[in-house]
Amino acid sequence: MNDKYILAIESSCDETSASIVKNGHEEIATVVLSQMDTHANYGGVVPEIASRMHIENITMVLEETLIKSKLTINDIDAIAVTYGPGLIGSLLIGVEAAKTLAWIYNKPLIPVHHIAGHIYANNLTKKMVFPLIALVISGGHTELIYMQDDYCFKKIGGTLDDAVGEAYDKVARVLNLPYPGGPLVDKLAHEGDDTYNLPLPLDDESYNFSFSGIKSAVINLRHNEEQKGNNINVKNLACSFQNRVIKILTKKTMRALEDYKVKNLIIAGGVAANKGIRDEFIRLCDEKNITLTIPNINRCTDNAAMIGAAGYYAYSLGHIAKLDLNAKATDELK
Ligand code: KG4
Ligand code: ZN
Repeated sequence: MNDKYILAIESSCDETSASIVKNGHEEIATVVLSQMDTHANYGGVVPEIASRMHIENITMVLEETLIKSKLTINDIDAIAVTYGPGLIGSLLIGVEAAKTLAWIYNKPLIPVHHIAGHIYANNLTKKMVFPLIALVISGGHTELIYMQDDYCFKKIGGTLDDAVGEAYDKVARVLNLPYPGGPLVDKLAHEGDDTYNLPLPLDDESYNFSFSGIKSAVINLRHNEEQKGNNINVKNLACSFQNRVIKILTKKTMRALEDYKVKNLIIAGGVAANKGIRDEFIRLCDEKNITLTIPNINRCTDNAAMIGAAGYYAYSLGHIAKLDLNAKATDELK
């Protein structure tokens, strides 16, 4: 097959991003414009502000990507876009931009599920080898997925309540840390000791996760200590929380690898940037002879390069949308 260049757009939350990816694994040019500084003023993403900022920035981000790539729109084979899940107002901006480009330049339009994108971020680091287990951990998702082959997703477990990144951000807020708290909790955890007796969340035989209980345990602990007039040791609490999260994520993922007799693990999503989680998976996979791939830190969080990588495989399989493609706030990965 000739080289295929996919122009991809991602706007599902608070990053406006475009990228050109060659053959599903070679990143030619990517621009990520993060709105994080604006949302930090409000302690979390404000959907109306996010969609307005996507409108302001999408054209500039697309132009900048094409300039960086030294290609023209004529070199592009298809336009891929995140259609969901995510914030509906944010998604719509990316979807409308992609539809407009596909229509004007007569290019195929490729709909990409956001989680498929996170998984395929790994293909930008190292060609994915099947069968594999993918652990997707982000602000909106915590999922264990079995993949027999390219673009065959079988969900084997997921969170019953909060996503792991959401739990990190909520715990950070309780510890009076600024948004987004995940990276800060990770940093402080490395400076503290595991002294607080927090529960191991949903320690059962399933592949499912639950993080609302441990989040509530942190909130209650803080209130109880405050009422007794005691100060919380923020570093130790961050360390205790992170250790429980690492323990349950590794326990269930390593069991899935064993049960499915799979020797390849990939980790994806914003929380895959977590140093504690990365280090423990590296140690365990080394011990159990599992080949582990984690994307570069800047491709763990939302970006369009991952959508371009996934989009290539979707395109190869003939997943082409009509121009009435709509954004979806929620949607299962199939
Ligand atoms: O994948 P992502 O950019 O957006 C979603 O699709 O949700 O993930 C963002 C999430 C946030 O909750 C953020 O706090 C978390 O990833 N995160 C981290 C770390 N870096 C980002 N959580 C824990 N430790 C980190 N180092
Ligand atoms: Zn994401």
